[in-house]
Amino acid sequence: MNIVILAAGMGKRMRSALPKVLHPLAGRPLLAHVIDTARTLSPTRLVVVVGHGADKVREAVGAPDVQFAVQDKQLGTGHAVQQALPLLDPSVPTLVLYGDVPLTRASTLTRLLDAAGAERYGVLTVTVDDPTGYGRIVRDANGAVRKIVEQKDASDEERRIAEINTGIVVSPTRTLEAWLASLKNDNAQGEFYLTDVVERAIEAGVEVVTAQPDAEWETLGVNSKVQLAELERVHQRNVAYALLDAGVTLADPARIDVRGTLECGADVSIDVNCVFEGRVTLADNVSIGPNCVIRDASIGAGTRVDAYTHIEGGTTGAKVVLGPYARLRPGAVLGDEAHVGNFVEVKNAVMGHGAKANHLSYIGDSDIGARVNVGAGTITCNYDGANKHRTVIEDDVFIGSDTQLVAPVRVARGVTIAAGTTVWKDVGEGELVLNEKRQVSKTGYVRPTKKKV
Ligand code: UD1
Ligand code: CA
Repeated sequence: MNIVILAAGMGKRMRSALPKVLHPLAGRPLLAHVIDTARTLSPTRLVVVVGHGADKVREAVGAPDVQFAVQDKQLGTGHAVQQALPLLDPSVPTLVLYGDVPLTRASTLTRLLDAAGAERYGVLTVTVDDPTGYGRIVRDANGAVRKIVEQKDASDEERRIAEINTGIVVSPTRTLEAWLASLKNDNAQGEFYLTDVVERAIEAGVEVVTAQPDAEWETLGVNSKVQLAELERVHQRNVAYALLDAGVTLADPARIDVRGTLECGADVSIDVNCVFEGRVTLADNVSIGPNCVIRDASIGAGTRVDAYTHIEGGTTGAKVVLGPYARLRPGAVLGDEAHVGNFVEVKNAVMGHGAKANHLSYIGDSDIGARVNVGAGTITCNYDGANKHRTVIEDDVFIGSDTQLVAPVRVARGVTIAAGTTVWKDVGEGELVLNEKRQVSKTGYVRPTKKKV
């Protein structure tokens, strides 16, 4: 089968410089969702018709299996499909999708394709409460489709028809070429309507069949920011209910956003206002507190992520405790039972089994051994202004509060670092390291007072 995705329109009502089909839904362009769905049907040719912002669209969704046809002027949906014809295989049917209709399920498209087979013309239709603006499906007394009439061309009687054209159609390809070539633009909008192909098919003795989606939202398009926001909510609700069905506890299914994929083990619970981006995996018994943002991360079994934790890439072992207010950045790898507490940032660093950094620290480009205690205010000075260097802290080191480790530096196992130490040089196993400083106390000191003017 060939699939053609129409994506040349400007989307004036979005009031944006970004081409309409590139506006994100769940963090990805509308068109990317349509291409994903198309791929699940294994088309032999996949063609996107581009026009407005063609270069940006190509760049955003270009892939080896996607071909582009350019429609310089948007002369109508029929004209748009015509631009794709040279790239299609005439021996198999062509399915037409819209780049701004992101949530159509593959099962619905399969139903339409099955109804049409190789010989018939198929139209995905839906009966709605308010058909205003859509093309209406005009049937004869026997219920057979006779034509599709656009809102602007419809009679009052036709406008009362509640069954509408979703725009998604499938056609035999060999005959489509002649049908499209015969279209006229003598209609209210002066466009070459793809919908007029229905009459051409009937004239040619080709049967026109219809199929319906399971849910109306599958056929909704985006023409404005309001519709975009509404479809985002539909999508997020679908994702949330799928998680609930899979046994995940959500404090409120209306307050979770998944912009990517979220895989959960058994007995995972997620509090309100969490955002998941990219690929996130939560193993069994993970609990996520409120207001966390988690991207591209794998969280081990039994780990507790407390409120306001921000993860931008990282891996944790089992029974880790993170947050509140912790931040993991790419390359953070936490061993089992590690603790990373409030205002601790971990980047490109490994923390061993049971290592703890509970308060106010920066751990970057480091290897922290098992059971290391990182005191409050510890900073790995990993950057010399030009290059990054590594800090290595071996097992069972105790780092006192307010320590700076100037990389590259190695602290051997069992070392104790006194509070307030700057460690410039490597430290040998079991040693105590401190900077010699004096504490001075003076009597009779008088604090300055504010001068009166
Ligand atoms: C179209 C249908 C209408 C249907 C409605 C469903 C026609 C004539 N009408 O109307 O029956 O009820 O969709 O939403 O087909 N596009 C191009 N090039 C063009 C024109 C459109 O690529 O020259 C693309 C648009 O970017 C969009 C899609 O085709 O993705 C639909 O175009 P739009 O102008 O929104 O069609 P409607 O007038 O809404
Ligand atoms: Ca439309």
